[in-house]
Amino acid sequence: MTRNTLLMIGVLMWALVPAGKARAADSCLTCHSALEGDFAKPAKLIEGDVHYQAGLVCADCHGGDPKDNSMSAMSPAKGFRGAPRKAQIPEFCGRCHSNPTYMRHYNPGLRTDQLSEYLTSVHGKRLKQGDTKVAACVDCHSVHNIQAVTDPRAPVYPANVANTCAKCHANAEYMKGYKIPTNQFALYEKSVHAAALAGGDTSAPTCTTCHGNHGATPPGVSSVANVCGTCHAFNEQLFDNSPHKAAFAAMGLPGCVQCHSNHEILKPTDALVGVGPKAICITCHSKGDPGYAGAAKIAGDIAKLQTFYLHANQILGTAERSGMEVSAARVELSSAHSDLLKARVTVHTFDPAQVQKITGEGVQIAQKSYQEGVAALHERDVRRKGLGLSLTFIVLVILGLIFKIRQMEAKKPPASPGSAERS
Ligand code: HEC
Ligand code: HEC
Ligand code: HEC
Ligand code: HEC
Ligand code: HEC
Ligand code: HEC
Ligand code: HEC
Ligand code: HEC
Ligand code: HEC
Repeated sequence: MTRNTLLMIGVLMWALVPAGKARAADSCLTCHSALEGDFAKPAKLIEGDVHYQAGLVCADCHGGDPKDNSMSAMSPAKGFRGAPRKAQIPEFCGRCHSNPTYMRHYNPGLRTDQLSEYLTSVHGKRLKQGDTKVAACVDCHSVHNIQAVTDPRAPVYPANVANTCAKCHANAEYMKGYKIPTNQFALYEKSVHAAALAGGDTSAPTCTTCHGNHGATPPGVSSVANVCGTCHAFNEQLFDNSPHKAAFAAMGLPGCVQCHSNHEILKPTDALVGVGPKAICITCHSKGDPGYAGAAKIAGDIAKLQTFYLHANQILGTAERSGMEVSAARVELSSAHSDLLKARVTVHTFDPAQVQKITGEGVQIAQKSYQEGVAALHERDVRRKGLGLSLTFIVLVILGLIFKIRQMEAKKPPASPGSAERS
């Protein structure tokens, strides 16, 4: 046989093998595909399931004999364990997922603590007490159509998590009888975090980032209320060294959440600090106490820097629009803007002196930039004056010339009469 015929046969054989992984005949799949309604659903869905794609079959989860084409494939004698009731689901999934030796064989990178973690959560504890309305594995991951968690279609993919939790937690009818509100989803959707996540910032938290995927809290966090510092480490450091740390703890108050809330975290504004009507400080501090005076001082200093910055920014803008070169002053002014941002973070020291150290520096820079703007505008006026003078001079010269020409024309003798007829 020539090399070409061999190649042809190779291609033919490849074309005859069905696409995808070759599978042994599976009576469970064959018979269930032919059933009606709910009993056929698993067989129809399973092709998209991460387990099926890894080579597992119905019998790996449900037991039974996939080589038996009759109903006795599902006899308990053949290890068939049927469909788990809700209360049994965690152990049903955990049979494999908490077995490191077994799991390593398929995917060495996968954690095997989901069941043990789940049992520490409110969901897990309540399920053990017989409450079957809580979430078990399949309520979050689905069943027969389970996706890898990195798959954007997975209900536990970060962008989909809030909707998955909302199925129950935003359903007032379903949650009737529990003592917790059903507004977490609605509030979270309004937050800076939800907006950042929707904008593609995958470092922003969704429900499970704060509450933990399976456990009661994420790893390394003792209470959900302390989770903020895992991302906003600097704010936490400042807060921990502030007078509020001990004072809040003594009153049994949480830290960040006391001022920012837990779900409806909005973009903070300067109006939140101080003693104005929108300030949070006045929810605890009143006229006469040192916190009240401190709040007023901090707000005043930030407002001062903001004002100086805006004035400098405005005058440099005017200078730029009149064609003056002020790029050096612009660069300087940007560090006053950085000071403004820094001051807003330093609010978390709740120490007027520390805030003032930063705003004071920023005000000086802004003042200098403002002076540079004034100088640039003065320079512009001088140049305009100079231009005005030379323009006046040129106009005068032209007027003089015109006057002279007229004078010379007046002195010319008149044309001789009748000269027109001659031509
Ligand atoms: C000859 C057809 C047939 C075969 C083969 C078959 N099944 Fe079934 N299966 C059924 C029917 C029909 C039902 C409906 C419930 C019943 O009457 O037991 C059912 C029910 C089930 C249920 C639900 C039982 C419950 O507890 O509610 C599961 C799970 C199941 N089958 C899994 C399997 C698995 C796994 C295999 C292969 C090992 C398999 N089936 C093989 C026809 C079949
Ligand atoms: C990853 C494990 C897993 C695999 C693989 C799996 N099942 Fe299931 N199956 C479950 C669980 C868990 C339930 C219970 C779901 C519930 O109560 O919501 C279930 C329920 C069922 C039921 C009861 C009806 C229903 O939908 O609740 C049937 C029938 C069934 N499975 C058949 C199959 C068949 C047929 C296959 C193969 C095509 C299969 N299962 C593959 C885990 C699995
Ligand atoms: C309250 C919803 C919820 C419940 C209940 C739940 N999970 Fe998860 N699960 C998640 C989320 C969210 C992730 C992480 C997704 C990510 O990493 O982006 C996850 C991840 C996983 C992973 C991937 C590896 C890992 O740990 O990151 C496995 C496997 C898993 N879960 C299995 C289970 C099993 C088994 C159960 C039941 C014992 C269960 N899950 C219960 C929400 C849930
Ligand atoms: C028969 C053993 C077995 C059972 C039972 C089982 N799983 Fe799995 N599961 C696996 C294996 C093996 C993988 C790894 C597949 C891979 O990554 O190649 C896996 C993967 C997963 C993943 C994807 C993890 C990732 O890579 O992101 C999730 C989620 C998951 N299982 C959830 C469940 C849930 C929920 C149940 C119960 C309904 C369950 N499993 C029952 C063996 C099992
Ligand atoms: C199948 C419905 C269901 C789903 C899905 C669900 N939960 Fe729950 N969850 C409950 C029920 C019911 C409770 C018990 C209410 C109680 O504690 O009084 C609960 C309790 C909780 C609690 C404890 C509340 C408390 O302080 O008592 C938290 C936190 C929680 N769920 C977060 C989540 C998150 C995050 C998700 C999504 C990843 C989620 N849940 C998905 C039903 C669900
Ligand atoms: C930025 C972190 C964070 C995010 C994101 C978050 N939570 Fe919370 N959640 C908290 C904190 C903190 C508490 C208060 C816990 C405490 O007091 O111990 C809380 C409380 C809860 C409670 C208890 C009842 C209540 O309202 O106080 C439930 C239920 C809950 N969250 C569900 C959710 C759901 C569902 C989502 C997503 C839609 C979500 N959370 C998103 C931090 C968060
Ligand atoms: C998983 C990381 C993460 C956790 C946990 C987290 N955040 Fe955030 N937070 C972000 C990201 C990302 C942004 C959006 C980027 C930005 O604007 O700084 C953000 C934005 C904010 C903002 C607005 C900042 C601004 O200048 O607009 C506030 C306020 C905030 N978070 C407070 C909190 C509080 C309070 C908690 C705890 C209840 C918390 N965050 C938990 C990551 C996190
Ligand atoms: C006593 C009230 C209070 C507490 C407690 C508090 N904050 Fe703030 N936070 C504020 C105020 C007021 C602002 C707005 C400052 C401004 O814009 O002038 C703010 C602004 C922020 C900002 C936006 C500015 C920046 O830093 O980029 C973030 C993020 C933030 N806080 C996170 C946290 C975190 C995390 C904690 C807990 C460690 C916390 N806050 C504790 C009052 C508080
Ligand atoms: C939840 C209540 C609460 C809120 C909100 C709060 N504080 Fe306080 N603050 C306290 C308590 C309690 C103390 C310690 C007792 C005291 O000195 O008044 C304190 C102390 C202080 C001090 C130190 C006073 C001293 O002794 O020198 C300053 C400054 C301060 N707070 C500023 C602020 C500012 C600014 C805000 C708003 C951004 C704010 N506080 C919001 C409760 C609060």
